[in-house]
Amino acid sequence: MSFDSFGLDPLILKAIAEEGYTEPTPIQAQAIPVVLQGGDVMGAAQTGTGKTAGFTLPILQMLAPVQNASPSPARHPVRALILLPTRELALQVAESVATYGKYMQIRSTCVFGGVDIAPQLKIVRAGVEVLIATPGRLLDHIEHKSVNLGQVQILVLDEADRMLDMGFMPDIKRIIALLPAKRQNLLFSATFSEEIKRLAGGILRNPKLIEVARRNATADKVRQVAYPVASDEKRALLQHLVRDKGIKQAIVFSNTKLGTARLARHLEQQGLKADAIHGDKSQSERIAALDKFKSGEIELLIATDVAARGLDIQEMPCVINYELPHAPEDYVHRIGRTGRAGAEGDAISFYSPEEEKYLLDIEKLIKVKIERVAARGFEPVADEPSFHAGRHERSRGRFDRESTSRHTRNTKIEKIDPWFLKPYEEGSAPAAAGPPKTDGNPPPAATGTKKAGVGALLGGLAKKT
Ligand SMILES: Nc1ncnc2c1ncn2[C@@H]1O[C@H](COP(=O)(O)OP(=O)(O)OP(=O)(O)O)[C@@H](O)[C@H]1O
Ligand SMILES: [Mg+2]
Repeated sequence: MSFDSFGLDPLILKAIAEEGYTEPTPIQAQAIPVVLQGGDVMGAAQTGTGKTAGFTLPILQMLAPVQNASPSPARHPVRALILLPTRELALQVAESVATYGKYMQIRSTCVFGGVDIAPQLKIVRAGVEVLIATPGRLLDHIEHKSVNLGQVQILVLDEADRMLDMGFMPDIKRIIALLPAKRQNLLFSATFSEEIKRLAGGILRNPKLIEVARRNATADKVRQVAYPVASDEKRALLQHLVRDKGIKQAIVFSNTKLGTARLARHLEQQGLKADAIHGDKSQSERIAALDKFKSGEIELLIATDVAARGLDIQEMPCVINYELPHAPEDYVHRIGRTGRAGAEGDAISFYSPEEEKYLLDIEKLIKVKIERVAARGFEPVADEPSFHAGRHERSRGRFDRESTSRHTRNTKIEKIDPWFLKPYEEGSAPAAAGPPKTDGNPPPAATGTKKAGVGALLGGLAKKT
């Protein structure tokens, strides 16, 4: 199958060819014709499989007839509205729209909170056909009367399950109330729960459910392993793995802003090239961190879940869950930052005894048993000042040593915890799913100018993590 078979405008095909895409991905092959026919879609496909182009390409095609070069704002009403949870994702999707539509006369921009609204007001007031937005900042624009949603033909909720959860739902409802009743609705995500499907039913009309893989499946080519490790030994294990396994780059997910900041600082002190992304950082710091990560200047990007969804970082080989997410869907998105567009990747998760229940929840969701790996050969001293090459060969890790007595600097460890020695038992009383997720990327974030630099991808982090 080729992109030609969709009947797309040659200007779109030219842009696709320049991106190096030779054939549509499975979600694109199934979604594009349905979207072109004007139908509502709930599209579920694994992370990194091209969902963005799955909705962007047919939207551009449908807007082809209204292309015009008129300077009048009235000739450029918002016709497609794309809502997503974080400002960096808004920028990324805006870049995709701009890339695929570069030969067309379609105006697009993104708006998100956390930055001055004034430049956005100017751009939006001048008229745009495709508006990419985080919900809170869009509502700010509506208050400023800079945008009118009365002519929206197509609504997209990217990361739709996140957009319909408790954190965003009130804003989404307010926005939807401003849209024409007759419109096309497109919902995409790598994860959908039954509850979200039910909620989505209130938005979609006769939707076509497109699921190209088993529901909530992780990306095919991501190798998943989990290391049982005590919380206070995670730092040492992380350093050991990075150095011993020669991990060139990894996103390391932690659950809290403070934990993320502390871990990044600690790793830096250990001589590793690390930086952090979380909601308490300034925009410029976030921009700098992501830029440095993308350029390879830093090897470890320590992140909260603000970086869990949608971010497309080329050739990112490894994701490490320093802590397991409490909502199992977040695991799918986190590890989906690697193994994208057919590439391979590694997902390494640490879990303490208290976190085992989350691992079981994750396995239940993704229907995959994650291989447990004993953490051998690392020095379980969390605050060791430096790592000496070869030391790991002499020392024995917590999982294969008899006693910890010779680790005199680690006074916390008195004796081996029998929990670590017990064989893994599948399905042993999985705990209830974690608390409802309200901490993700709350509404409004960002701002945005029409086309931001690559570094600005990070500028769009939401206020909270
Ligand atoms: N047909 C194609 N051929 C080759 N590469 C593609 C194709 N479509 C998309 N890609 C590339 O695949 C990568 C992942 O695409 P995209 O970000 O849309 O994934 P996604 O399904 O939205 O993932 P996530 O669930 O993480 O948001 C991007 O780098 C994109 O350029
Ligand atoms: Mg995506």
